[in-house]
Amino acid sequence: MEKEIRALKAEKNAVIMAHNYQPPEIQGLADVVGDSLELAVKAKETAADLIVVCGVRFMAETAKILNPDRKVVIPVEDAGCPLADFLTPDMIREARRRHPDAAVVVYVNSTAESKALADITCTSANAVRVVASLPNDTILFGPDANLAAYVQRELPEKTIIPLPPGGHCYVHAGFTLADVEAARKKGGTIVCHPECQPEVQEQADRIASTGGMVRDAAAGGNEPWWVFTEREMASRLRVLYPGRIFYEKPEAVCADMKKISLEDLRRALESGEHEVVLPGEVMGRARRAIERMIAVGA
Ligand code: 13P
Ligand code: SF4
Repeated sequence: MEKEIRALKAEKNAVIMAHNYQPPEIQGLADVVGDSLELAVKAKETAADLIVVCGVRFMAETAKILNPDRKVVIPVEDAGCPLADFLTPDMIREARRRHPDAAVVVYVNSTAESKALADITCTSANAVRVVASLPNDTILFGPDANLAAYVQRELPEKTIIPLPPGGHCYVHAGFTLADVEAARKKGGTIVCHPECQPEVQEQADRIASTGGMVRDAAAGGNEPWWVFTEREMASRLRVLYPGRIFYEKPEAVCADMKKISLEDLRRALESGEHEVVLPGEVMGRARRAIERMIAVGA
């Protein structure tokens, strides 16, 4: 199957992009593996005719928005992100009415329609930098309320209003103080994603996006790491840093990230399904918000 996929990739002049949470066999075939910011930036740089995104829908939509003239496909149509569905365009419009002086920052884990209503997007790798770059004192920030709390802690001079107040990722919200306690008993460094709950973030030794975890681990240290994010991240870190110890939480699984199989990937390359199609006007406005983010940097 791997051989077939590589041959189809060359034949179609395709690029395969995979998120850090994808199963190892998919990551192993990808041209680019990264966090959502890295995937967005690389999507913009690629010259391939076909972009296959192995991740969840918002990642494929972001690649399409940045490459409106290319064909972008996601191998499984219903690989979504439940966090993205917390924020609706009406919530943004209503919040803007209530806070006319606020800027709207939308996390990339969101629908294309929500991005189109944002002043700027952000990822977990650059959320603090994005918000700090804005002149506004008040920021409407959605859909992840835990990431909003993280930004608020880092930038106390701003007022961050989470939109909606309870938006969260069920995988990261599943980490609790009991997990912190268990990790402390065993020893090691706790590295947590900013989508984890604020009380868990406060107890962690480091807070990082998935790309940040890859970079921080490269900086060395021989301590075992507790990786408080989707469990595949630990397997990616083990591949990158053999000999180091990375612990995962076995229950921390993003079901949508596991929907794509090698057979789905092969079929997507062969048939060009499922193509991401979005209204041009939505893409144009969302592109402005994403490109503003890319200009701010990681
Ligand atoms: P990263 O941007 O850190 O890769 O996070 C994306 C995501 O979906 C986290 O759950
Ligand atoms: Fe969405 Fe959470 Fe899955 Fe990330 S881990 S894609 S935020 S559901």
